[in-house]
Amino acid sequence: MANLFAKKSLAIILKESSETGEHTLKRTLGSGALLALGIGAIIGAGIFVRTAAAAGNHAGPGVMWSYVIAGIGCAFAGLCYVEFASMIPIAGSAYTYSYATMGELVAWVIGWDLILEYALGAACVAIAWSEYLNKFFEHYFGFSIPYQYCHSPFQNEFVNGVATGVHGLINLPAIFILGILTMILIRGTKESANFNSIIVIVKVVIVLVFIALGWQFINPVNHAVIVPPNTGETGIFGWSGVLRGAGIVFFAYVGFDAVSTAAQEAKNPQKGMPIGILGSLAFCTILYILFSYVLTGVANYKDFSVTGPGHEAAVAYAITTYMHGYEWFSGLITIAILAGFSSVILVMLLGQSRVFFSMSKDGLLPKSFSEVHPTFKTPAKANAWLFLLVGLFAAFVPGDIVGDMTSIGTLFAFILVSVGVIMMRKTDPDAVRPFRTPLVPLFPILGIIVCGWMIFGLGWENWLRLIIWLVIGFVIYFGYSVKHSRINNPKK
Ligand code: ALA
Repeated sequence: MANLFAKKSLAIILKESSETGEHTLKRTLGSGALLALGIGAIIGAGIFVRTAAAAGNHAGPGVMWSYVIAGIGCAFAGLCYVEFASMIPIAGSAYTYSYATMGELVAWVIGWDLILEYALGAACVAIAWSEYLNKFFEHYFGFSIPYQYCHSPFQNEFVNGVATGVHGLINLPAIFILGILTMILIRGTKESANFNSIIVIVKVVIVLVFIALGWQFINPVNHAVIVPPNTGETGIFGWSGVLRGAGIVFFAYVGFDAVSTAAQEAKNPQKGMPIGILGSLAFCTILYILFSYVLTGVANYKDFSVTGPGHEAAVAYAITTYMHGYEWFSGLITIAILAGFSSVILVMLLGQSRVFFSMSKDGLLPKSFSEVHPTFKTPAKANAWLFLLVGLFAAFVPGDIVGDMTSIGTLFAFILVSVGVIMMRKTDPDAVRPFRTPLVPLFPILGIIVCGWMIFGLGWENWLRLIIWLVIGFVIYFGYSVKHSRINNPKK
């Protein structure tokens, strides 16, 4: 009978991290590259797409508060991540940590759940990429891709709030960008990290420029009421809407933990991990609050509702519509955003392939997921499988749904990591901890409460999606993984 709670000891995990040979990744990333990796993963569709979606449908200008709530939850969970990442500097992030603390079944649940975060996160950003590609074509070439070929079958076209009767079929641009980035990843991490650093700078600059230029166009009328009154339905404006908004814009923070998935490729994880994770988180929180203040000041939040004119590519819309004299910036911003989104997708795909890599090394997924390409030294097959999975979601599921699934999956992972820190302090009190989360168990408990509160705010449809996803995971675990797990089957 397999032991579902078998734990991988810290000593084994650390030994594996220093192993050389076929299954080892190159250590090439310094602190700067890790910080860039973090910011590269963080600033993306969340700020440029989800902010407007949360404001238009749930929170109004109160989306600023949504960012504050989500930022607080991330800060507590982030501190827990850093303790783990500096202590267990190997590929696999929360999955690896939970294997050491809570045993195989919980590790599987987290690993499976992380697919929601990274793979679906990548899909959501690819969908947002497709929106901005259309704006780019409109701005510079005066045409747009027909609605059917850049939307999922579950979306309907609206013009000025009126349905046109046209609905989507497949999101081809989203598949296109995922394909290109998968090829870059297969070529190698070092090259991808360099490409990433350049884009990160561009991305931060455009956010700052938007804040600076947009500030002059803030219309005080738009900020007259910061939290619009609730409509009578939970989560539709009012403070419950702000909470729902927090779950939605939480997406914008997803990714700071992706830095921890690259721990095995960090030159000096003890120093690089805290800088990469907490530095990028702090920086982005400030930027987000300012950005959402300006966006909801320049345009009225109602423009961003699901049937409103600014529903897609909201930033480009706000500039063209309200920031007269800066139409050139709207075009430029689409180019920068396309590049910026690409860097996010890259980090998400990188994170996911590394989680697959670790799960496969442990025998929970087939061996092909941890085969390293002989020349490129990357888990090329894992990347190829991932492309298939992410591509299916990006092509056929609406961005809002994929985004909310990413949020709820990540929040759930954050809760499990926070629980893990508390448990590990008890089970392994003497382990070397280069970084210690302050005030344990208070901080992890606060993380659990704030993240749990956001899960609650996301509403029952999303709870149901999470539950279905976990059930599918259990079927795979009991059907395959438990029989192949290295810990439970040492002779295999
Ligand atoms: N935080 C990332 C984004 O907003 C996932 O695109």
